[in-house]
Amino acid sequence: MRTYTLVKNGKAAEAFKLEDKPTPQPGEGEVLIASEGFGLNFADVMARLGIYQDCPPLPAVIGYENVGRIQALGKGVTGYMEGDRVLAFTRFGGYADHIVTPVMGVTPIPDSLSVGEATALATQYMTAYYAVEECLNLYEGDHALVHAAAGGVGTALIQILKHKGVTVFGTAGSAEKLDYLKSLGVDYPINYRETDYLEEIKKLGFDRKIDATFNPIGGNYVKKDYALLNAGGAVVIFGASKLTEARGNPFKIIRLLFGFGFWSPIKFVTASKSLIGLNMLRIADYKPAAFQRSLKAVVDLVNQGVIKPTVGQEFDHSELADAHTFLESRKSIGKVAIKW
Ligand SMILES: NC(=O)c1ccc[n+]([C@@H]2O[C@H](COP(=O)([O-])OP(=O)(O)OC[C@H]3O[C@@H](n4cnc5c(N)ncnc54)[C@H](OP(=O)(O)O)[C@@H]3O)[C@@H](O)[C@H]2O)c1
Repeated sequence: MRTYTLVKNGKAAEAFKLEDKPTPQPGEGEVLIASEGFGLNFADVMARLGIYQDCPPLPAVIGYENVGRIQALGKGVTGYMEGDRVLAFTRFGGYADHIVTPVMGVTPIPDSLSVGEATALATQYMTAYYAVEECLNLYEGDHALVHAAAGGVGTALIQILKHKGVTVFGTAGSAEKLDYLKSLGVDYPINYRETDYLEEIKKLGFDRKIDATFNPIGGNYVKKDYALLNAGGAVVIFGASKLTEARGNPFKIIRLLFGFGFWSPIKFVTASKSLIGLNMLRIADYKPAAFQRSLKAVVDLVNQGVIKPTVGQEFDHSELADAHTFLESRKSIGKVAIKW
């Protein structure tokens, strides 16, 4: 089988090596999948840059999701046949043309979904769904703020929130992305490069009226989000993209860490507000039933036409470095995926 192995931290063009390896055989409870392609996530960019703490030591095959057809079933696997088209979670190991993975992390998908659409459902839609439906209780008429709103998780959050009747504020960094947010039905798209989103939301009349924020940026965005919350509101922190700006500069890293703020539980009680941390790897490890529930819900929602992933671009596997650079450039909209 072929893998794109991460051999070096740094620029995408020098980071990956195409390797030939023996194709693994599925063990008990596992399936072997012949891949059509795999998805990229921003965590992959951070892994390549050497700032993703869950990344295995190099050399490593990274990648969280793969789509393809089952080629062999391990002992004890029921409910699937060779040739079934499936979406699979891979805990790393996804940048490969064959993968072996536990059947627990596999779900059937229709032929109508492209590689980009299918892989978007795994990490990005699952994270969004879990954040909205398992971390919080949001209702029609509530207000939510989504950062990196035009990205993969951002798109998923907006579609799920709009379906629930939530009023959505979305931040993104270009005029093209703002048009995209309008097309998704975002009520208040905000270009954070042109205006301070905190001041803008206050100006719009929603100071302390936000019920939830979805924050993968980190640093002082956490304090700013918290200031906007209504009583009963929560900031869901699920990333620290700002780390990419501070990488290699200790002063910037310290500023970033201070930016997160220092928090006392008393403050949460008196204000009746919360900070919620989310890492889907930990949820997969320790809450497998909730993970499965989210996976089933996401596939049901796409089958019902409630959600529809946006595919920013599908690249040929030989263009993996270009795809990584594109995602890192902050120009991508929706999902970036790779086809074999
Ligand atoms: N905790 C978890 O389990 C989990 C799971 C999945 C994803 N995540 C996190 O969710 C975030 C989104 O992931 P994704 O795969 O869907 O990526 P993405 O949103 O498609 O791409 C990243 C986007 O983030 C925005 N961004 C804002 N500030 C940034 C900064 N300082 N540095 C870099 N990008 C910045 C950029 O758009 P604009 O600048 O235009 O806004 C960029 O296009 C990432 O932080 C990722 O690590 C966490």
